[in-house]
Amino acid sequence: MCVVYDTGMSEKVRITDVSPRDGLQNEPEIIATDDKIRLIRRLLASGVDEIEVTSFVSPRWVPQLADGPAVIEAIGVEATCMADAPQLSVLVPNEQGFEEALLAREQGVPLKIAMFAAASETFSQQNTNGTIAEVIDRFRPIVPRAAELEMPIRFYVSCVVECPFEGRIKPAAVRGVVDQLLELHDSPTVDIDLGETIGVATPDDINALLDAFDDSHIERMTLHLHDTQGRAADCVAAALQRGVRSFDGSAGGLGGCPYASTEERRAPGNIATESLVQRVEAEGFETGVDTERLEAAAVCAREIVLTARSGMGGLT
Ligand code: HMG
Ligand code: MG
Repeated sequence: MCVVYDTGMSEKVRITDVSPRDGLQNEPEIIATDDKIRLIRRLLASGVDEIEVTSFVSPRWVPQLADGPAVIEAIGVEATCMADAPQLSVLVPNEQGFEEALLAREQGVPLKIAMFAAASETFSQQNTNGTIAEVIDRFRPIVPRAAELEMPIRFYVSCVVECPFEGRIKPAAVRGVVDQLLELHDSPTVDIDLGETIGVATPDDINALLDAFDDSHIERMTLHLHDTQGRAADCVAAALQRGVRSFDGSAGGLGGCPYASTEERRAPGNIATESLVQRVEAEGFETGVDTERLEAAAVCAREIVLTARSGMGGLT
């Protein structure tokens, strides 16, 4: 006879906070490096599993994160030496960005590299100045080197439900891009991150999207939901039902890709990490996040943005 004991343990869901990257990349004002570090310190104390701390992209394209290397230099070693240190990650669009990640590694900061492609050709051109195929080609020389060094890898795909320029995107098109990325390197540790860039998805859209994937994808999938229509938390619940166990959020609900903005509409923020954690736990899962400390990070995130917008400069 098999006896099943209820251990009272809930299943763990992984939480990545992307506010220092996605949250701050679309701010009209450039946030002071010291303020970014203050936010990252708060997040380090909050118990999230991963923090996307900055981007190593072209400063011509995203001047808001031109201080990426300086942020890593200031906080990287401190963050890495913490007990239970969260994984730190950075966006890397090409070999130039990868060299920056290697430099950090040599200085004792082991970064996860997040390479980003899209399921929409127009968005790909707008965001990265290349076709989907060209963007994936830029990752070709990076991925084997990263894999050999055992650097954790995340592959983002943007516009997985809708593109701000092309409209609806078919789940099969998203799956096609994921397959091309996994051809570069496929291992159970590769994080497939699906970006709902403009925050319009319904739970039905998420179910249709996940129908295009196998269990082997879903078990290492992250969902990255923006929250324009206020439905992201319901989409999280739907994805949990389908086996997704990793989500991105942005403290204070900041965020948005500058290249997802149109003349009519500024790109929307991510689901707030506070709302994400609350919903995941309400659905019966554990996150390990300290909600009071996360709230302190959210207050800090909103404060530094408001301060910069009002031209008051950095707070202490
Ligand atoms: P390009 O103009 O074709 O690049 O842009 P290039 O190779 O011709 O270089 C142009 C200049 O940029 C050169 O400088 C390079 O040195 C420099 P110059 O000689 O003119 O002075 N450069 C760099 N500098 C530092 N680091 C680098 C780098 N690369 C080139 N890595 C490129 C192509 C991909 C570089 C550009 O389009 C780019 O950086 N795009 C990034 C856009 C971006 O960061 N968007 C937001 C992130 S994606 C997002 O938010 C979506 C997501 O959240 C998921 C979702 O919500 O869907 C992830
Ligand atoms: Mg995003």
